[in-house]
Amino acid sequence: MYVFDPTIDEYSARYSSAEPEVLAELSRITHLRTLQPRMLSGQVQGRFLGMMAGLMNAGRILEIGTFTGYSAIALAQGMPDGGKLISIDINDEVMPIAREAIAKAGLQERIELITGDAAHIMPTLEGPFDLIFIDADKRNYARYYQLALPLLRKGGLILADNVLWSGRVFDPQIRDADTEALRSFSELVQHDERVDNVLLTLRDGLLMIVKR
Ligand SMILES: C[S@@+](CC[C@H](N)C(=O)[O-])C[C@H]1O[C@@H](n2cnc3c(N)ncnc32)[C@H](O)[C@@H]1O
Repeated sequence: MYVFDPTIDEYSARYSSAEPEVLAELSRITHLRTLQPRMLSGQVQGRFLGMMAGLMNAGRILEIGTFTGYSAIALAQGMPDGGKLISIDINDEVMPIAREAIAKAGLQERIELITGDAAHIMPTLEGPFDLIFIDADKRNYARYYQLALPLLRKGGLILADNVLWSGRVFDPQIRDADTEALRSFSELVQHDERVDNVLLTLRDGLLMIVKR
């Protein structure tokens, strides 16, 4: 199953706003200094995230899965003045890259990074948040979702990345733990009466979930 079509990706990138230089540079650094640079959101999804933060006038954002800080910066750039974004990552090796990029973007006041396991940190946070971006280990998506909902304001938005998992979710022969976790996460959301949801076929699949 082919989800990423380079022709479509190129076309949508051409007709989406350009990547700010600080993010283009972060993308280059991530390719040079990390083993899985593909994990970063990239231009089109980054522009989408920033646009959502702006449209929602999101004063408080929570991100699960910082990696090198690309999506944190893209989201924070769309936030109104005085906005605050908290981003959590378990891997302390990527945090220095994120910190450096956040400083270059002049967003140190707006973005707070927390190193640790999101499943342990989320219950210690105080809501409400306007937007929560879930982009960490796939096996815990359902757990992060259940922890995120009480932290989200009514009408707030959860965005969960990679729900198409490069098309693996469509193939009944594929039954590895990550694929199964993503399937049951989408099922869980689909049957949850607390929310409305739309699965966008943007990049690797982005599940948009609005709290009723
Ligand atoms: C797909 S990357 C995030 C990409 C980033 N949001 C972006 O768009 O640039 C997933 C990140 O989740 C982090 N992660 C994995 N398990 C985690 C956990 N239990 N708690 C917090 N972060 C975790 C990984 O270390 C990795 O950096």
